[in-house]
Amino acid sequence: MNLLYQNVLISLNDIQQLNQRLAPYLEHLQKVTQTNDYVFNESSINLPFDKQLLNAVIKTKKQKISKRLKYILVIGIGGSNLGTKAIYDALYGYKDALEPKRFPKIFFLDTNSPQYLSALGNFLSKNIKSPQNILINAISKTGATTETIANLEFILKTLEGLPQFKDFNALADRLVITTDPSSKLAKICEEKRIAALPIPPIVGGRYSVMSPVGLFPLAACGADIARLLEGAQKMRDLCLAPDLAKNPSMLSAAILYSHYQNGKNINDNFCFHPELESLGKWYRQLMGECLGKEKDLDGNTVNVGITPTVSIGSTDLHSMGQLYLGGPKDKITTFVWSRLETTKPAVPAKLYFPDLIDHIEGKNMRQITEAIYEGTKLAYAKKELPFMEIILNGLDEYSLGEFLQFKMIEIMLLGNLLNINAFDQPNVDLYKTETKKILTQI
Ligand code: PA5
Repeated sequence: MNLLYQNVLISLNDIQQLNQRLAPYLEHLQKVTQTNDYVFNESSINLPFDKQLLNAVIKTKKQKISKRLKYILVIGIGGSNLGTKAIYDALYGYKDALEPKRFPKIFFLDTNSPQYLSALGNFLSKNIKSPQNILINAISKTGATTETIANLEFILKTLEGLPQFKDFNALADRLVITTDPSSKLAKICEEKRIAALPIPPIVGGRYSVMSPVGLFPLAACGADIARLLEGAQKMRDLCLAPDLAKNPSMLSAAILYSHYQNGKNINDNFCFHPELESLGKWYRQLMGECLGKEKDLDGNTVNVGITPTVSIGSTDLHSMGQLYLGGPKDKITTFVWSRLETTKPAVPAKLYFPDLIDHIEGKNMRQITEAIYEGTKLAYAKKELPFMEIILNGLDEYSLGEFLQFKMIEIMLLGNLLNINAFDQPNVDLYKTETKKILTQI
């Protein structure tokens, strides 16, 4: 993965000054890596190296997964499912409807959609022929998220109605819960002898993709989690290096922060691969929830935050392009692109409609998208709109692992520059408490 920043429209001097400001925090992050225990807010950076957690994931995979597995239900919301969905969609999910015979497939259950749940209930009733065809992975760090527990209860009740699950033990055997070992949910799992995987208590949901939260369902669906972790490991080391030129997290954090200070409070993540839309949404949560804060670390009311948006190239050039190129200059764009080389498929050399578009005959789709990508960058440059580019080596586990780790460290650095706590979410908890109050009244 490379970060290109020739068009960021800020001076190298500004970036270097921020580099100096970040130096003590970088030292702190290095200290975090010397402690294997999960004791610091930032300890999630040790997850890619945690052999014990990896072994627990592999062991559970061996116990629960056979060739007969067809459907994995990932029940979780926010930090508990967005990382898994980001990787699953990049590798498989975007094409799922076109590959009906590729198994196992993941179905994601996050919000409580009555329509989706009814359809899913009908689907499972018709398609689950044996207990081995399904695995339910419910993920909740707190074990107390309304949507997740409501969806889990509905799914269990639905499956219990099928002849193969009449015995609760058969159903419990197809269930894996991922949670904080000190949660009430973990205790129930122990009592009912349901398999449980741990989330280290200090690791917040949005930093948990390299823990069993992401690793178990990804391993279960066939993703190469060893490569994912390798990519993250390599990136962690790069992103803790004091040398600015080699440290993409530090560069990106400094660029985003400089622009934020100059009024560009929107960061558009413009992914030129439609399969990366969920990756963009994973980052949207990371940036939104980590940096959107009412108070700073000194207790002052600051109401800070950079608003992350996700755009898909070239699709959104036809919906948002006008706004981006002609509207308010309040954005810094991060283009995400890859070196993926493909010569197929292509436009035929002899066209059926020869007089409509010049110069497309015989060109492959990669070349056409590349022309649009380069054209978009030139248009941004002409309009003096700042942008950086993240170039992935491919859309594989290793590259995705690199990207995820790069972004998690970038956000920690941004949190430090903004002098806020990038690890809590007090205002999200506020809505959760209010919801629970309403539920007691209806
Ligand atoms: O990142 C976070 O902390 C949140 O998005 C949580 O992951 C989300 O609210 C779900 O919480 P839980 O995993 O406790 O069910």
